[in-house]
Amino acid sequence: MCGIVGYVGHRQAQDVVIEGLRRLEYRGYDSAGIALVADGALATQKRAGKLANLEKAIADHPLPASDIGIGHTRWATHGAPNDVNAHPHTGGSRRVALVHNGIIENFAELRARIEADDHVMLSETDTEVAAQLLELQVESGIDLATAMLRVVRQLEGAFTLVAVDADDPTRVVAARRNSPLVVGIGEGENFLGSDVAAFIEHTREAMELDQDQVVTITPEGVSVLNFDGTPAEGRRYHVDWDLSAAEKDGHDWFMRKEIHEQPRAVADSLLGRRTAEGHLHLDEMRLSDQELRDVDKIIIIAAGTSFYAGMVAKYAIEHWCRIPVEVELSSEFRYRDPILDYSTLVVAISQSGETADTLQAIRHARTQRSKVLAICNTNGSTIPRESDAVIYTHAGPEIGVASTKGFLTQLVACYLLALYLAQVKGTRYGDEIDQVMAQLEEMPAHIQRVLDDAPAIYEMAREHVDTRSVLFLGRHAGYPVALEGALKLKELAYIHAEGFAAGELKHGPIALVEAGLPVLCVVPPAGRDQLRDKMVSGIQEVRARGARTICLVEDGDDAITPYADRIVRLPRVPVLLQPLVAVVPLQLFACELATEMGHDVDQPRNLAKSVTVE
Ligand code: G6P
Repeated sequence: MCGIVGYVGHRQAQDVVIEGLRRLEYRGYDSAGIALVADGALATQKRAGKLANLEKAIADHPLPASDIGIGHTRWATHGAPNDVNAHPHTGGSRRVALVHNGIIENFAELRARIEADDHVMLSETDTEVAAQLLELQVESGIDLATAMLRVVRQLEGAFTLVAVDADDPTRVVAARRNSPLVVGIGEGENFLGSDVAAFIEHTREAMELDQDQVVTITPEGVSVLNFDGTPAEGRRYHVDWDLSAAEKDGHDWFMRKEIHEQPRAVADSLLGRRTAEGHLHLDEMRLSDQELRDVDKIIIIAAGTSFYAGMVAKYAIEHWCRIPVEVELSSEFRYRDPILDYSTLVVAISQSGETADTLQAIRHARTQRSKVLAICNTNGSTIPRESDAVIYTHAGPEIGVASTKGFLTQLVACYLLALYLAQVKGTRYGDEIDQVMAQLEEMPAHIQRVLDDAPAIYEMAREHVDTRSVLFLGRHAGYPVALEGALKLKELAYIHAEGFAAGELKHGPIALVEAGLPVLCVVPPAGRDQLRDKMVSGIQEVRARGARTICLVEDGDDAITPYADRIVRLPRVPVLLQPLVAVVPLQLFACELATEMGHDVDQPRNLAKSVTVE
């Protein structure tokens, strides 16, 4: 959460910074701000609310030309989202400007110390403390990078800090601890960003940094120091997507574009996973076959939508590999004293690779000698860097705050992991694995078929603009789909929505059912008859109490027809793979309903895409 940009080079820094912030706005949109260095002074502007407010303020009060600047888009933690608390913050004599992502945990104590020395703090933020400390350091006559090293040693918590000094227009200095920061390498210019989207328009050459490092960018180069002052090297890499992937491409929302990209994203995440001999092969699986054979328990940890992908993974892994699987919210995991040892495999699922709760959970797991495998979409992010193995999902950048293609490709990665474990442990024959792989390879076409029916879903969504509550029912692998459908509605349409395991209905939730309540039912494929039949009973029970049932049913299954007010047809696929098609109508439904209600689908209120604070 919070997006950070830094630039030094030969372009108008204002343009580079504002464009970078636009691409990072999904990380937070409570306020936005910019600081430039011009003629030996800082020029700053900041405004509460979305980036558009900042742009208007700059249009009314233009900033001077400058080729060095920093910018910030905020998801508020300390202090209300107003103009004063917006970043950048400056020191008392406005020599240093600084932006920050994260939380400085000892800020109250540092603030008291600064105020005791008669320095006045203007905001309620923890960030201003770092700005004040940094300015006091440079005023003692040292350069900005050395000053930054001295400041970070005083800070506790998680932070990315990026700063400029009005007396030195040649460099931007940043520091990173447990919070994201990447460097963009240009010619005669260099960039900093919370992720590569900030500078992808200008360069696809990037450098990742380790924890606890300070980086200085000048037009000519990049230098990195560890917090102890020793020199370090960042790892250079080439970004394998370009600007077009970060554009809306004619859609009204990034989210809608990303929903429609899912057939391609699923196909990409399946690419290159089999050797010429037909064996499954996962390129960043740095765990040996023996280490995987030793695994006797898997714990999956994740947050939000990724958690629901983990729930689906449990069904697949237990069925195909016969290894017990627990699925746990990252934010709960560490605090229950989980039983972990060298034979436990911890699987961390995270689209962004930066979710603080998940990161802390994997660190805890590794201290207990467990192996950690990350399922992640973001190259160079912290969670895969700190894991023993990675399966990248290859969805391309996901910008809509509510995850869609991120989720589908996480499901694919989970199936691949399950099949890989089955191959290594020998719990499935090769031809069975081939058969599932063939079924997976058909999924892009099935998903496309669901998308082709989008107009009917949109029409249904528009009929629900006055709805204040929706229930979702599912069973088995359809249960996480119900939860994800409900989450999408909460996130985007701000209406009460809950997902239930259909069998639990009678144990309480059925009391919520009243005349006209929409109930979306994910009906399992008919192949699993006992599941499907029990679901049909559940649907009858809610309908008998006046609910309006909207049933997601596979082609050719007509048993539901008498009890369904609306039917949404799904392609015929195996029960374990059904989430890949069943969740798509629910994404379309939430996207369209929120659009019709006039909400900002890409940037729902109070949310941020990458939650980098615990
Ligand atoms: C935030 C986002 C969700 C996402 C969750 C986990 O809450 O708004 O869409 O599912 O974080 O994020 P991760 O990047 O770890 O998958």
